[in-house]
Amino acid sequence: MRPFIHVNCAMSADGKIAGCERTQTRISSDEDLARAKELRRRFDAVLVGVGTVAADDPHLTVKGAQYDDNPVRIVVDPHGRTPKDSQVVDERAATFILTDDECREEWKNADVFRCGWPFSLSKAMEKLSEWGIENILVEGGGTTIASFFREGLVDRYSVFVGPMIIGGKESPTPADGYGWVRSGGVKLRLKSTETLGEGVLMTYDIIR
Ligand SMILES: NC(=O)c1ccc[n+]([C@@H]2O[C@H](COP(=O)([O-])OP(=O)(O)OC[C@H]3O[C@@H](n4cnc5c(N)ncnc54)[C@H](OP(=O)(O)O)[C@@H]3O)[C@@H](O)[C@H]2O)c1
Repeated sequence: MRPFIHVNCAMSADGKIAGCERTQTRISSDEDLARAKELRRRFDAVLVGVGTVAADDPHLTVKGAQYDDNPVRIVVDPHGRTPKDSQVVDERAATFILTDDECREEWKNADVFRCGWPFSLSKAMEKLSEWGIENILVEGGGTTIASFFREGLVDRYSVFVGPMIIGGKESPTPADGYGWVRSGGVKLRLKSTETLGEGVLMTYDIIR
C-alpha cells in the first residue's frame, strides 16, 4: 500500500522550473498560484525535496489554516541537510523529514522517519501509508519529481506552463536526474487543459 501521488509544478515555455543558479523564479500566473494553494488543502501531505528547501525555503502551509488543518509537510532529505531554521520546520504545521537509516539529525518541530539504507522512496511511501497518509501532493523540485516517476509512484501530473523563457541548459526541469526516468519514458494520458491567466495548466494521468 502507498498513498495516491499527485505531482504539481510550474514551468516556463522552454521547460524550466527555475533559473540556472536554482534561483526561485515566479512562473505561475495569479490564477495558477491561487489554484496551487487551493490544491494543498485537498491533500493529507505536501512533499518537497531538500534541494527545494535549500533553494526556496518554502513554508508549505495553507494561508489562514490552523496547525491541524494544514497538510503534513514532508521533506525528502536522506542526509539530514534541512537547515534547522527553515520555515518548513516552523510551528505552523506538522512536519516529517524522511532520512536514511544512518542520519542522526533531529529537528525541534519535526518527526524523523528513517527509510532504509540506502534511502528508499518506495519504503518511505509504504511507511507514510501505515501512518495514515492517503494522498500526497509532490511540489518539487526536479530531482525529487524524477525519482517519483522513476519508481513508478506517480498517479497524476499537473504542470502549469507560464508565458516566459528562462533558458540555460543548467536550469532545472520538472524531471531532472540522470536522463530517461524509465526506459522508453513514462507515458501520460491528457486529462484536461485549462487557461489560467496567460498560461496553460495541463493535467495528465499516468498510463501503466
Ligand atoms: N517551478 C516549480 O514548480 C518548482 C517547485 C519546486 C522547486 N522548484 C525549483 O527546483 C529547484 C530544486 O530542485 P532540485 O532538483 O535541486 O532539488 P529537490 O528535488 O527539491 O531535492 C533534491 C534532493 O532531495 C533528495 N532526494 C530527493 N529524492 C530522493 C530520492 N528518491 N532518493 C534519495 N534522495 C532524494 C536528495 O538529497 P541529497 O542531495 O541530500 O541526497 C536530492 O539531492 C530549485 O531551483 C527550486 O526553485 C521549482
